[in-house]
Amino acid sequence: VNELALAGPTGQSRIGVGQPIAHLDAYCGGRVPVIITNRKVSFHHDHRFPQGPVIEIGEGEESKTLQTVEAVYSAFMENGVDRSSLVVAVGGGIVCDVAGFAASTYLRGLSFGFVPTTLLAQVDASVGGKNGVNFHGYKNLIGTFSQPAFVLCDPALLQTLPAEEIANGYAEVVKAAAIGDGGLFAFLEENRAGALSLSPRIVERVVYDSLRIKTAIVSRDEKEAGERRVLNFGHTIGHGLEKVYRLRHGEAISIGMAAAARLSAARGLITGSEVARLETLLSGFGLPVRIAIDTAMVVDALQKDKKREGGSIHFVLLDGIGRAVIAPIEIGEIEGVLNDLCESR
Ligand SMILES: NC(=O)c1ccc[n+]([C@@H]2O[C@H](COP(=O)([O-])OP(=O)(O)OC[C@H]3O[C@@H](n4cnc5c(N)ncnc54)[C@H](O)[C@@H]3O)[C@@H](O)[C@H]2O)c1
Repeated sequence: VNELALAGPTGQSRIGVGQPIAHLDAYCGGRVPVIITNRKVSFHHDHRFPQGPVIEIGEGEESKTLQTVEAVYSAFMENGVDRSSLVVAVGGGIVCDVAGFAASTYLRGLSFGFVPTTLLAQVDASVGGKNGVNFHGYKNLIGTFSQPAFVLCDPALLQTLPAEEIANGYAEVVKAAAIGDGGLFAFLEENRAGALSLSPRIVERVVYDSLRIKTAIVSRDEKEAGERRVLNFGHTIGHGLEKVYRLRHGEAISIGMAAAARLSAARGLITGSEVARLETLLSGFGLPVRIAIDTAMVVDALQKDKKREGGSIHFVLLDGIGRAVIAPIEIGEIEGVLNDLCESR
């Protein structure tokens, strides 16, 4: 069992990696938690849930809304939730985001904890204190910064994940390694098969290292004033692609990371063989690094991106495998790389 701690202005988080959910009691301080989950997670894992009322929410981004949050508030009322209550989310990033937002706003903020059940939620979504929902088609437009009291990562919960959810999670793991830890990057290269088959020993190391990288960055810049932006590596172009094409998040950021690596090489920050290492690793996890696109449409989406500042974008580049830098970049430079990377239709 490995423990990490995250201390930020909006609270402290205790993070247990490799902890069986059966040990949840030790994190609940004697309280019976109110559990928030969804039907799929409950179907696979409810026999492992702790005692306590269970609130189920719907599936998918379309459920990550204020209407769902309202339904959760109503369920809190029905269950007599008060300021002494503890809310525990057991689910993927969507369940954690909705539960964290509902808990951090009900009665001006209740204690809450997360038991993430997807790889993506274990390595990324459950840690960092951002909670929120979508609004009028915009992702995560409404939300809070508020740290969960705890995050418990049980590798056994991941065993029921479909292959595409595993690949989705590894996109964020590769991102963490690429921006923060060349050692983790090399470990992934050497242990791809064990990582993909979710060997508990390997998953534990991968989750722990990814969270070590993320918590270190977040504890220095909780509200994303500067350094936390490096966690957006691959996400600027990735979000542009996600808006225009029906890609999964992991697929979009995988292509985004490949493009960002090429831009880094074009600026002489990394070598061509480092770009190839990144692309080989991503492909090895079943993630795409190329896509046939209409570059103009993606550039248009990028131009509308909120990160755009006066004709340039704060862009995350690699300065070697395991090190990221933020640099302003012209749209034209991105366009060039996209043309190069993507066989335009
Ligand atoms: N708050 C943050 O900092 C942060 C960071 C990254 C992503 N996110 C958010 O996370 C969300 C994506 O999270 P996600 O990828 O976990 O998606 P998700 O929550 O939709 O889960 C993916 C699918 O896997 C199912 N599932 C969950 N656990 C399972 C299990 N153990 N076995 C089988 N199926 C299981 C879910 O029901 C769902 O169908 C996005 O909305 C994104 O915005 C938030």
